[in-house]
Amino acid sequence: MSLLPTTWTSLGYLVAAICFILALKGLSSPASARRGNLIGAAGAVLAVLVAFLSTDLKHVLLILLAIVVGTALGVPAARRVAMTQMPQLVALFNGVGGAAAALVAGLELTRMEGASGTAYVAAAAGAFTVLVGAVSFAGSVVTFAKLQEMMTTRPVTFPGGPVVFGGSLTVAVALAVAIVVDLRNGGVNGLLVIALALVSMLVGVLFVLPVGGADVPIVISLLNAFTGLTVAASGYVLDNVLLLVAGTLVGASGTILTRLMAAAMGRSLASILFGAFRQKAAGPAGPGEERPVRSGSPEDVAILLGYARKVIIVPGYGLAVAQAQHTIRELAELLEARGVEVLYGIHPVAGRMPGHMNVLLAEANVPYESLKEMDEVNPQFATTDVALVVGANDVVNPAAKTTPGAPIYGMPILEVAQAQQVVFLKRSMRPGFAGIENELLYDPKTTLLFGDAKESLTKVVASVKGL
Ligand code: TAP
Repeated sequence: MSLLPTTWTSLGYLVAAICFILALKGLSSPASARRGNLIGAAGAVLAVLVAFLSTDLKHVLLILLAIVVGTALGVPAARRVAMTQMPQLVALFNGVGGAAAALVAGLELTRMEGASGTAYVAAAAGAFTVLVGAVSFAGSVVTFAKLQEMMTTRPVTFPGGPVVFGGSLTVAVALAVAIVVDLRNGGVNGLLVIALALVSMLVGVLFVLPVGGADVPIVISLLNAFTGLTVAASGYVLDNVLLLVAGTLVGASGTILTRLMAAAMGRSLASILFGAFRQKAAGPAGPGEERPVRSGSPEDVAILLGYARKVIIVPGYGLAVAQAQHTIRELAELLEARGVEVLYGIHPVAGRMPGHMNVLLAEANVPYESLKEMDEVNPQFATTDVALVVGANDVVNPAAKTTPGAPIYGMPILEVAQAQQVVFLKRSMRPGFAGIENELLYDPKTTLLFGDAKESLTKVVASVKGL
C-alpha cells in the first residue's frame, strides 16, 4: 500500500518538474548556475521521496542499499574530480543513467502480458528504451576512455566499419521489432531483450569509435540527449509523468546544446559523427620532425608585453591544468597599470567543457567585460601587438582552415596569427587535444616560452614588475 494519496503524488511531481525547469533556467548564466544546480538537486530529492512514498514497493531494503552504494560512489567521485576531468565524469554519469533506464525497461518488458494495442505501444517504448539506453551506456564508456586517455583520442576506423555499424544497427532495430511482435505469444522472451541490449551496446561502441578526440564533447552532449529520450520513454513504460517530463527536458536541452556546440565548431553533426569514414589523411602528424622554433625567456616575454599597446590573452586547457588563472589576472592587472589594453579571447571549445575558460577566469575575479567571445575578438587581432596564448593549441591552430582532413578542419579559430607577435606558453612541442601539429609554433613571429604556465607566468610577472 502506498503512503501518499494520489493528489499529493501529482502535486509532488509537479513541484519537482517546476524545479527542473527553474534549474535549466538558472544554468543558463554563470551568475545563477550554482542556484540552478541546487534547485535541480532539490527537485531530484523530492522526486525520489515522492516515488518512494507513493509506490507499493516490494524490495525496500534492496532499494535503500542501492541508494547507499550509489551515494557512497557518486558523492566522493563528484567531490574529488578535478575541474579538467568534469566531462569524463558527466559522460560516466550519463552512461549510468542510460544503463539504468535500459535495465528497468528490459525488466518491465519481460513482465509484459497480453496483446492489446496499449501493450504493443508499451512494448515498443520499452524496446526503444533498451536500444537507445544501451547505445548511450556503451557510447559513454568509450567517450570516457577517450577523454581519460585510456585509449587513443584519434578517430578509430577500420575497413568495412560503416557496413559493420549499419549492419549492427539494422540487427538491433530488427530485434526491437521482434520483441514487440513477440507479445502475440502472450509475453516477451527475455533472451530477445538480452540480445537487443548486447547488440545495441555494440552499436554504441561503433558509433563513438570513429569520432576524433576534439569532437568527443559534442558526442557526450548527444548521448546525454539520447539518455533523456530513454528516460522519457521509460516514463511511458512505467506510467510515470515525472520521468516523461524530466526525460523530455534532458532530451531537448541536450539536443540544443549539441547543435550549439557543433555550430561553435563550424561543423555539421553528420561530419562530426561520420566524417572519419570519409577521411583518408588525418592531417599533419603529431609531434613532428625537428624544426627550428624561436624560444624566449620570461624577460623577453615581459618586454614584449610591457611595452605593447594592446595584448589579447588566449587561454586554453593548459591554463586550467596549471591552475594559472590567478597569475594571469595578476599579469593583466600589471599590464593595465602600465597603460596596456588587455582583453581575453575566449574560444567556445577552449578547455575541456563548455564555458570552461569563463568559469576558470570568473573564479580568479577577472572582470566579465574583459572576456570577449570569438566573433567579437577576432577582428581585433589585426590591431593587437601581442597575442599571449596560455596553454591553448587547437583553438588557434591554422590547420582548421588550411588542412582538409585534419580532425579540426572547419572549426573557426581565434585568429592570433594576425597579431604583430604571438607568444605561446606551453611545456613542450606536444600537440593539443586533437593530436595534430600547429604550424603557428614555427612561424617567425612566434615566441615560445616553455614551462608550466603558472611557473612561466610567475616569472613574467616578476620581470614586468622590474621593467
Ligand atoms: P589543447 O588544444 O588541448 O591544447 C592545450 C595545450 O596546453 C597543449 O598545447 C599543452 O601543451 C598545453 N599545456 C598543458 N598543460 C600545460 C601546463 N601545465 N602549462 C602550460 N601549458 C600546458 O587545448 P585548447 O586549445 O584549449 O583546445 C581545446 C581542445 O579540447 C579542442 O580540440 C576541443 O575540441 C577539445 N575539447 C573541448 C571541450 C570543450 S566543450 N571545451 C571538451 C573536450 C575536448 P604541452 O603539453 O606542450 O604543455
